[in-house]
Amino acid sequence: MSIEQLAETARAMVAPGKGIIAIDESSATCKKRFEGVGIECTEDTRRAYRELLLTAPGANQYLSGAILFDETIRQSTKSGVPFAKYMLDNGMIPGIKVDKGTVPLAGFPGELVTEGLDGLRDRLKEYYKLGARFAKWRAVITIGDDIPSGTCIEANSHALARYAALCQECGLVPMVEPEVLMDGDHDIGTCYEVTEVVLRSLFDALYNQSVMLEGTILKASMVVPGKACDEQASVEEVAESTLMCLKSAVPAILPGIVFLSGGQNDHDATAHLDAMNKMGPNPWPLSFSYGRAMQQAALKLWATDMAGNYAKAQATVFERAKANGLAALGQWQG
Ligand code: 13P
Repeated sequence: MSIEQLAETARAMVAPGKGIIAIDESSATCKKRFEGVGIECTEDTRRAYRELLLTAPGANQYLSGAILFDETIRQSTKSGVPFAKYMLDNGMIPGIKVDKGTVPLAGFPGELVTEGLDGLRDRLKEYYKLGARFAKWRAVITIGDDIPSGTCIEANSHALARYAALCQECGLVPMVEPEVLMDGDHDIGTCYEVTEVVLRSLFDALYNQSVMLEGTILKASMVVPGKACDEQASVEEVAESTLMCLKSAVPAILPGIVFLSGGQNDHDATAHLDAMNKMGPNPWPLSFSYGRAMQQAALKLWATDMAGNYAKAQATVFERAKANGLAALGQWQG
């Protein structure tokens, strides 16, 4: 795969005014979300829900792509069109989650490492054939007493870099996601320091594994105080801290950065992205790759009345895509 093709895909993922909807919850996570709103979690309810999200009328104006789960990339619309084909026909790039989730890091209580490298090359080749053109791997960094450790950060960066190199070999753009969790009572300064160290470690590892940054997208967490911190931050403070942190650690050659929502409410996720873009010009396009902040309104509506609220639920997907698409341009009006 040529670097030009990877770079073209990466640029298309962050095309002006467009971002990504993350619908790649594992079946276990999907079960939790469905149970939270009283929906039975079966292969077919998962399929029906993903169809609702992917086919929301008009949302594709603001969506460059979607991240799918292994089960979803093998599923089809009710009328029999494979989801990946439906997406390509509607101008959206299929992406795929390729990590196998987190496990406790041996010897480091409270810390996690992401698994999934064994057999990854063959899985990536198959996903490419199924239509995927980018792939996501999520590492999780937890802030707490004396953590994260350097060992946890290095182990996760190394795995991210190994996966990224394999993706590029197989023609997929790696979307590298080192998520610094919002859980805890740490302040925004602590989140800044941890995020900066994590990003520097990640880009060191990518360099060491010969990953071409021109064909890579960063999926970042914003610099925010812990959810349980007494002192919460203003929209401007989050936007300024996140921008400063990214500028200090992320090479300008990267084609784009997308954010996860990480538990922020819909309004904050959009407001923060919009504020960062209003503060531009920035070295890279800044857009979204939200899961919960794209989906939660739709899920609640659908759960209340699957048939009766179908169109209303799809309309909220459109609204969230439009708001975040405008925020990616710094043109959201609140
Ligand atoms: P959230 O936006 O819900 O954090 O999910 C994004 C994602 O893909 C996490 O890996």
